Amino acid sequence: MDIIDKIDISRLPKHIAIIMDGNGRWAQQQGMDRIFGHQNGVQSVKETVETCAELGVEYLTLYAFSTENWQRPKEEVSALMDLLVSTINAETPVLQKNNIRLAAIGDIDSLRPNTKAELEKAIAETAHNTRLTLILALSYSSRWEITNSLQIICKKVQEGKLNPENITSDLISQHLTTAAFPDPELLIRTSGEYRISNFLLWQIAYAELYFTPKLWPEFRKNDLYEAIIDFQSRERRFGKTSEQINP
Ligand code: FPP
Repeated sequence: MDIIDKIDISRLPKHIAIIMDGNGRWAQQQGMDRIFGHQNGVQSVKETVETCAELGVEYLTLYAFSTENWQRPKEEVSALMDLLVSTINAETPVLQKNNIRLAAIGDIDSLRPNTKAELEKAIAETAHNTRLTLILALSYSSRWEITNSLQIICKKVQEGKLNPENITSDLISQHLTTAAFPDPELLIRTSGEYRISNFLLWQIAYAELYFTPKLWPEFRKNDLYEAIIDFQSRERRFGKTSEQINP
């Protein structure tokens, strides 16, 4: 029996989010610089996107660059931005061909003008695709996002457009950069670290968490299958009892 046969296609997570970690350590193991790790991470990105599309996962969010990543050495930030632009340019026709829509979350205005322009071009070109939505988290952090949404909400209250009593959980969700997407049901982190690192804190309230020791450049199709099989073995109770879920 192939590992893929163990997946129940009728119970796929609708949205998978991934913290792609371990590029630097993988490169170090090869005696190479960190940038070599990021370059090889692109192959894992491609394989993961392809696998999600083949299976029928509807949304995939990748943590590609955090607000905190701006503090890395200038050369690494620059190389990561160049890699993003070159990958987006090279892969947009592939996204088109495979009916995949590109989207982005985060403080997009803080990106370098050419990165922002290329990203927005690819988002516009793929806007009508319907198979899988690939969401890149860029200059993203959850605390930035929640703070930003609070500023927008408070301004509406100040202008008399919103009554504080009408601030609900749904209203907060609608003011996050993820407003157009459902919450992730499965969050994967590679590289054996057990942290969330300021990623989608609000949105993962009920997500299943999956940690693998694999470093991101080593993450392959079968690793994603394993994560989904593990997800499907769990009982998701959303605060209810097991008896209420399985009467
Ligand atoms: C974390 O590994 C990885 C990143 C900060 C960048 C991820 C970027 C890519 C995989 C390449 C481009 C992505 C797209 C979507 C085209 P790390 O550097 O923190 O690794 P370490 O913890 O071992 O140092």
